[in-house]
Amino acid sequence: MKKVWIFSTILSITLLQAAQVSPKKLYISECGSCHMAYQPQFLPKRSWLKMMNTLEDHFKTDASLDKDDKKIITSYLVKNSGDSKRVYKEFRKFNSYISKNSTPLRISETYYFKKEHRKIPKRFIYQKEVKSLSNCNACHTKAEKGIYSERTLFIPNYGRWDD
Ligand code: HEC
Ligand code: HEC
Repeated sequence: MKKVWIFSTILSITLLQAAQVSPKKLYISECGSCHMAYQPQFLPKRSWLKMMNTLEDHFKTDASLDKDDKKIITSYLVKNSGDSKRVYKEFRKFNSYISKNSTPLRISETYYFKKEHRKIPKRFIYQKEVKSLSNCNACHTKAEKGIYSERTLFIPNYGRWDD
């Protein structure tokens, strides 16, 4: 009798886990439908918290989520934010330029981002294939995998980037 109980408990736990999507997958499906799901490493924890608490008015759109999804995604973003311990070298540089007194909601308006992108002629940004600097994956062909090296850059109607 006891054995059966243990077995069925293990089975139901396994089934529960299988039914649960990983936080990262949930983030990508919920926050990657209108634009690429930006890597959480690009902004500090306080930025994500502010953004997740203002989703009804998200850059003039409504990106609100149900309570459970919001909780899981917020925790994923905070755990992997730019000021968390999980951050690698290149993202650390990105974050070191964000003033402690500011809470940016746009990656594309942070200092290091602007510095890295200032040499791109405007017509290659505002063209219809790119639209705005928020469309990372229009130029960084592996952005969705978190790869931003020069080798993976290809700007539409311009080509490879040679610094
Ligand atoms: C209904 C569509 C929609 C959904 C869903 C959505 N966003 Fe956005 N998001 C936008 C729009 C529109 C912009 C502004 C883009 C622009 O200016 O080109 C934006 C911009 C952003 C930016 C700033 C990009 C930059 O320029 O640096 C971040 C960060 C962001 N969203 C995070 C999220 C997160 C996190 C979620 C999930 C909770 C999410 N978004 C879900 C529409 C959406
Ligand atoms: C119009 C094309 C374009 C768009 C859109 C774009 N980038 Fe870039 N990005 C570039 C170019 C060009 C460089 C400069 C490469 C260099 O000089 O080393 C660059 C550099 C970078 C770097 C530095 C890479 C390194 O090796 O130091 C990062 C990180 C980066 N971009 C992230 C982003 C993110 C995140 C977004 C979206 C929010 C984005 N970019 C949108 C073209 C673009």
